[in-house]
Amino acid sequence: MQFTGSHIISIGQFERADIERIFEVADQMVPYAHRRRVTKVLDGAILGSMFFEPSTRTRVSFGSAFNLLGGEVRETIGFESSAIAKGESLYDTARVLSGYSDVISMRHPQEGSVAEFAAASRVPVINGGDGSNEHPSQALLDLYTIKKELQHHGRDDVDGLRIALIGDLKYGRTVHSLCKLLTLFKDVTIWLISPKELRMPGDIVEQMRTAGLTVNESDSMEDSIAHVDIAYSTRIQEERFASQEEANLYRGRYRLNQAIYTRFCEPNTVIMHPLPRDSRAGANELDNDLNDNPNLAIFRQTDNGVLVRMALFALVLDVVDLVDKYSSDVHWYTGSRF
Ligand code: NCD
Repeated sequence: MQFTGSHIISIGQFERADIERIFEVADQMVPYAHRRRVTKVLDGAILGSMFFEPSTRTRVSFGSAFNLLGGEVRETIGFESSAIAKGESLYDTARVLSGYSDVISMRHPQEGSVAEFAAASRVPVINGGDGSNEHPSQALLDLYTIKKELQHHGRDDVDGLRIALIGDLKYGRTVHSLCKLLTLFKDVTIWLISPKELRMPGDIVEQMRTAGLTVNESDSMEDSIAHVDIAYSTRIQEERFASQEEANLYRGRYRLNQAIYTRFCEPNTVIMHPLPRDSRAGANELDNDLNDNPNLAIFRQTDNGVLVRMALFALVLDVVDLVDKYSSDVHWYTGSRF
């Protein structure tokens, strides 16, 4: 695809070569994200960060990624602080705000809303999650992480991947986008583990089967995580249920802890989660006793999110080849956090 000036709305817009390009640029961003060098390539550029749903990682990592490229971030958080609360349409908001920014990252509770906004925007829009539909940058950072974790275990390709997705597969937009992304790879075997009521939407399962993936659906976790490279857990998306009581029926259904991991998983199975993990008593999707497990990749995912989002900005704003030119040394103490 042509990245320059494009919106990033859905995984469906990418081909495999595009994914490889994004990951190549993400690798190029490591010295900047890891504070070994700074670049000012986006000096003067403005990111409009518009999040109309709760978000920590996605919002802050889009913002950090932009800052790390030298640009500035202008935030709109929540409906109550925007004119949408006065009845303004997405069309009008998009026309107005795209006059104030060079690129926009956006999250909104309604499926299709970010695409509708993008259609009226005068600058590129990146989807940070539209309802239960899609979350493309999360899928990209997840796949980037999968690739790095496999490399760490001596495998050099995503082809042949065995992965289990666990939890709320009906409303979880991260797994919807990840499934679509996996259709670009060969010999992938996937286990979809969820309560019957929260199964992966049929059209996505169909899309995977048509693309040649081996898809297994189950409501029991233990057997399904026995032969996978990746166990990817998700939160019950309680905000999408009619009531808290209904969501509570499913919370705590699939708990992964060290004892279960040791008993059922292969020794090198990598544990992932888009976060936030629900750590309240009764949920505990990923128990804290996994925190010292070297195969728990959840914080490597969040670090990788910055690299992938830097890559998207650099590609969409067409500065990939200028990043190093406008760079300099770092002068402060950077510690050893990476
Ligand atoms: C996810 C989201 O918002 O879709 N989180 C994220 O962006 N990292 C998953 C979730 O909220 O459970």
